[in-house]
Amino acid sequence: MPVCVVVGMQWGDEGKGKIIDLLTEQADVVARYQGGHNAGHTIVFDGNKFILHLIPSGIFHKDKLCIIGNGVVIDPSALAEEMRKLEQAGFDFEGKLVISDRANIILPYHQISDVQKEGASGDKKIGTTGRGIGPSYADKISRMGLRTCDFLDENRLRESLGAHYEEKKNVLKNLYGEDLPELGALFNQMAGYREMFVKYLGNTHKILHREIENDKRILCEGAQGTMLDVDHGTYPFVTSSNPTAGGACTGLGIPPNKIDKVIGVVKAYTTRVGEGPFPTELHDADGDLLRKEGDEFGATTGRPRRCGWFDAVVGKYAVDLNGIDQVTLTKVDVLDQLDTIRVCTGYKYKGAELDGLPADPVVLANCEPVYTEYPGWKTRTSGIQSFDLLPDNAKRYIDGLEKHLGVGFVLISTGPDRTETIRQGDLF
Ligand code: IMP
Repeated sequence: MPVCVVVGMQWGDEGKGKIIDLLTEQADVVARYQGGHNAGHTIVFDGNKFILHLIPSGIFHKDKLCIIGNGVVIDPSALAEEMRKLEQAGFDFEGKLVISDRANIILPYHQISDVQKEGASGDKKIGTTGRGIGPSYADKISRMGLRTCDFLDENRLRESLGAHYEEKKNVLKNLYGEDLPELGALFNQMAGYREMFVKYLGNTHKILHREIENDKRILCEGAQGTMLDVDHGTYPFVTSSNPTAGGACTGLGIPPNKIDKVIGVVKAYTTRVGEGPFPTELHDADGDLLRKEGDEFGATTGRPRRCGWFDAVVGKYAVDLNGIDQVTLTKVDVLDQLDTIRVCTGYKYKGAELDGLPADPVVLANCEPVYTEYPGWKTRTSGIQSFDLLPDNAKRYIDGLEKHLGVGFVLISTGPDRTETIRQGDLF
């Protein structure tokens, strides 16, 4: 099973960081395929907590190759900051990190437009992370982006920055009244990052191809989640890339017929950050409890996450869309105190049952969820490592989720630490 893709099945923040970290133990290569530093993977081990935004968590393991693929957008200042923190903690990158020479760059004007556009959008805002992700991907698609290979040569960098500078400067000034630094200053700022990352640039597609030929185990790591996919999510309340499994092919240059397995990560309830429809959202004490017990605050922005019941319509959609072979279930222990737990198994709109997820966000926002109820277990499950030791009602709930999704759980997480895990099969 050499090439495995890990995808989030909800709106991100499913606890992929821990699952990827566990899978990494068995992998030779860990490759990130989309998104940017809007993502935040929290990893806890040996009592230490790390939040990674761009660098794959393979960096914490010996002898693992970490790849940042062409589908990722890179903010050089964010990458520099992350590398500096990891270096301070004693981790190094020599021979362990390769960054695609074809990845697009997030420039300061992308971040300014992201924040300004959101600020000017009133109640139409997306609730972005304000990191410049959308504007950078927009420039990529408009064929006016800078790429990592532009940093290989100083003259080339100056030329590429200059190519669209006047347009960017005018747009920022006229639309938002914002001043862009002079071209020389922008160049100096960007050139300052060259030394830090140029030595790690490489043809990652070629490296991956070689590793696949050598039967190495490749773990493809997606950020965000299925429902934030720009094509298949709750558009326009989505991110600007493809977290779904197909994104691994385009974002890494791995052919579809080389992907052997897709593992989905799903949380035992639902959260979302930012704006957009969320049919099972709770605005009551149960929602507050999930937020408190699940520590549901953004790893990147610190924003409180919106919390709600498990949505099996979303889960089944993610299974079908990504071709999910196995599911890992996270944060079961967060439900420990609830009297009754609900699972959405369908939507009604204007009295009629819908067939799956509607395309129109207005229809989705006005759907009425159809719920199945499960009794709570009111017992502490944190840290449990065997399915047999779970309370009966927790077993019933987990079995119920498996039936709704139609796919079995290969792993169940009962806490943030690597050890707080029930393993039910081989991940790779
Ligand atoms: P952007 O990716 O910053 O453009 O934000 C677009 C939408 O995706 C917003 O609703 C964000 O809150 C959401 N988003 C982006 N990254 C993440 C993530 O890592 N977890 C959860 N939501 C995210």
